Amino acid sequence: MAEIQTIAVIGAGTMGRGIAYAAAVGGYRTILEDVAASVLEQALDWIAQSLEEAVARGKLTAEQKQQALARITTARAVEDACRTADLVIEAVPEDMELKIEIFTLLDRFARPGAIFASNTSSLSITEMAAVTCRPERCVGMHFFNPVPKMRLLEIVRALETSDATIAACVEVGRRMGKEVVIVRESPGFITSRINALIGNEAFRMLEEGIASARDIDTACKLGLNHPMGPFELVDLVGLDVRLSILEYLHKTLGERFRPSPLLVQYVKAGRLGRKAGRGVYDYRDTATETARKAESG
Ligand SMILES: NC(=O)c1ccc[n+]([C@@H]2O[C@H](COP(=O)([O-])OP(=O)(O)OC[C@H]3O[C@@H](n4cnc5c(N)ncnc54)[C@H](O)[C@@H]3O)[C@@H](O)[C@H]2O)c1
Repeated sequence: MAEIQTIAVIGAGTMGRGIAYAAAVGGYRTILEDVAASVLEQALDWIAQSLEEAVARGKLTAEQKQQALARITTARAVEDACRTADLVIEAVPEDMELKIEIFTLLDRFARPGAIFASNTSSLSITEMAAVTCRPERCVGMHFFNPVPKMRLLEIVRALETSDATIAACVEVGRRMGKEVVIVRESPGFITSRINALIGNEAFRMLEEGIASARDIDTACKLGLNHPMGPFELVDLVGLDVRLSILEYLHKTLGERFRPSPLLVQYVKAGRLGRKAGRGVYDYRDTATETARKAESG
């Protein structure tokens, strides 16, 4: 398989801009595409700022920052973005119909040898690959948020992904500075599956009155060396997001993923986490306090 030199990233939202950052820093010509012009502009600002922060932290030199910036161009249509790419990574919203639309366009307009990767957190790469004439060149590349700081890359082998495709993506991950793990396509891959189970068990313990939320979080952080407790994490991710992952894993992997009734009840109550001001913990006072401090200068 020819060496990968140009990477196109489809979708410049939270993940797409991070993947473009990692690609440019890794030395690849990078084409970032989004349907929304304003998103593309924000993404470029975000990349420039992230590069600046990396220089300030001593991770990159000023020259490396300039070189990375110079490697990035933008496009406003999938057809234009993919034409010269050796690898296309899609990071559009988590919707199978949309992903299939993108894969169909890629198959039509990209070079015959190009590899197509999806950054999906849960959907089937095999299903996306099935609409192309190159299922052996379709693969999952699951990055983590925020991409510049998170070191893991899960590479997902779909039913027909070839060894050469996996090897090419491992090399890309390595040049992007990521630690790569390879997983056969299955619901939740490695990380979402384990994390959902730990988070669900924490809710069950809370429900059973075994310990307070604060103590369960403290135990996981200080006793198990987790950087965040399961409740702090679910409040950040969103309880609704966690519930939908658990429902999917329950449907596909069985009884052990049945969502805790307490989690279901919190979601019904609108306690969705930090974004709602209240999840397992209450953030409303903190928000008022922050606003008060801002007002008083
Ligand atoms: N956010 C996370 O923490 C995270 C982590 C890992 C994986 N993922 C996965 O990454 C993917 C993207 O998630 P995100 O959080 O970056 O979403 P996002 O909503 O922040 O960004 C998606 C972008 O895609 C653009 N878009 C929509 N339709 C398009 C089209 N037809 N062509 C080009 N661009 C289009 C949107 O304008 C938007 O900017 C999803 O599959 C998600 O499951 C997300």
